[in-house]
Amino acid sequence: MHHGAVIQISKNLACEWAKDSIRTNAVAPWAVNTGVKVESDGHSDDFRRLIGRTPIRRLAQPNEISSLVTFLCLPAASYINGQVISVDGGFTPPYCLLNNQHFKQNIPMAGFNSQRWSLKGMTALVTGGTKGIGYAIVEELAGLGATVHTSARNEAQIVERLREWEDKGFSTASLTSLSTADYTLEDFSSMMSTNVESPYHLCQLAYPLLKASENASIVFVSSIAGLKALPRLSAYAATKGAVIQIAKNLACEWAKDNIRTNTVAPWAVNTGAKVENDGHAEDFRRLIGRTPISRLARPNEISSLVSFLCLPAASFINGQVISVDGGFTVSGF
Ligand SMILES: NC(=O)c1ccc[n+]([C@@H]2O[C@H](COP(=O)([O-])OP(=O)(O)OC[C@H]3O[C@@H](n4cnc5c(N)ncnc54)[C@H](OP(=O)(O)O)[C@@H]3O)[C@@H](O)[C@H]2O)c1
Repeated sequence: MHHGAVIQISKNLACEWAKDSIRTNAVAPWAVNTGVKVESDGHSDDFRRLIGRTPIRRLAQPNEISSLVTFLCLPAASYINGQVISVDGGFTPPYCLLNNQHFKQNIPMAGFNSQRWSLKGMTALVTGGTKGIGYAIVEELAGLGATVHTSARNEAQIVERLREWEDKGFSTASLTSLSTADYTLEDFSSMMSTNVESPYHLCQLAYPLLKASENASIVFVSSIAGLKALPRLSAYAATKGAVIQIAKNLACEWAKDNIRTNTVAPWAVNTGAKVENDGHAEDFRRLIGRTPISRLARPNEISSLVSFLCLPAASFINGQVISVDGGFTVSGF
């Protein structure tokens, strides 16, 4: 009960104190191996049964909790506010009823060690890496030492970006805002195909490689539009909701293959796109005005969380949907 109280207090502070540049978040661990012995009573049976239903079938290590707490204190987390983030190996999705085989024990060393905060020797694929959020993700992952592959349709822009990244020494979606009645079937299909079919199919294609790596992480970029009803976005919202559910399913289905799956859900990000002066722009400004950190996010405030979720330091975070929204989704102000 007291944990529930703390969670609600943190949401209230996130809204009340954002104006004073104070961010507030809550970390909610599942069972952590702190050395306490589980006695052989009814409680321990329940406990073992619950661990058996956790996709990553082991206890967390203390430093798998401290890594997230640390990340949330970094400037890199500057737009994360009002969130409750479970570090639970995927236990919380209530539909997670798969009875997996035993998850390979892959427990990181205790204490801070730079390997847990490095992606050296790892390979990443970032779709849509030439602009906006994807571009920032490529930069962040490469900066952490990963070899990054990326894709986009505009070849000239890919070549231009590659040149830029080589100079830096790195080894080298779609949104339509219409009222629901105005969406054509083509609009809807195109959005489904880009935002849902593509990432789903890509995961299927990548599965053998991810499994072979024995330590993989999938991060879907959804949107808070997939969690909350926002004006003029019903079709887009459906695609973003679909991606959130796919991620939760993969988190449970593929944990046995050492593949973690999480979703990052940004609120409005300043990617340079102009907001047109129509009814949508008015709605948009009103919503930004209701955001505790009352500004747009920067792309690198999204890419930092995506990258953190790829790090060994995030090894017990699975099946989570983490909003990067300045506190928008928790605010009733
Ligand atoms: N910006 C926001 O405020 C915001 C908020 C919440 C969620 N999101 C989500 O974050 C993700 C990135 O958004 P963004 O605003 O950063 O987008 P963006 O600036 O428009 O960049 C999109 C990237 O994806 C590529 N791309 C687009 N359609 C593609 C296709 N059909 N096939 C292959 N590549 C394609 C683009 O390159 P080409 O055009 O050359 O193909 C570009 O590299 C999206 O999933 C979006 O829904 C964004």
